[in-house]
Amino acid sequence: MNKILMLVAFALAATQAQAAGDAARGQAKSAACAACHGADGNSAVPTFPKLAGQNEDYLVHALKSYKNGTRKNDVMKGMAAPLSEQDIADLAAYFAKQSGLVVKR
Ligand code: HEC
Repeated sequence: MNKILMLVAFALAATQAQAAGDAARGQAKSAACAACHGADGNSAVPTFPKLAGQNEDYLVHALKSYKNGTRKNDVMKGMAAPLSEQDIADLAAYFAKQSGLVVKR
């Protein structure tokens, strides 16, 4: 099931012309996030939400919302402020691909 979902996700990503996230680049950019969210997005502390396996669109939306202030959190506002659209897409692609929140059936 997960493999099928991943294939669908890849197919969708391939057809998206703009700002398709690149997970490899996202991993390189994720070092700054690891202290709180864990190296692969599986945070060990409940205070910091798990990002691993979270829906990619959700991650993009959350990061853009912190950046533009519609979602208010001082820590994440500071983290999201310097991120470009491409950075956000890459980070979302990376964390969405890690196993974590996905419910195994
Ligand atoms: C200093 C600790 C810290 C660092 C570093 C940090 N975060 Fe966060 N992050 C948080 C906290 C705390 C929250 C929860 C904020 C809230 O309640 O909205 C959060 C929330 C998030 C969320 C929303 C998750 C959800 O389930 O809604 C995303 C996405 C996220 N962070 C991405 C990142 C990314 C990407 C980086 C690296 C560029 C990063 N964070 C770095 C502390 C941190």
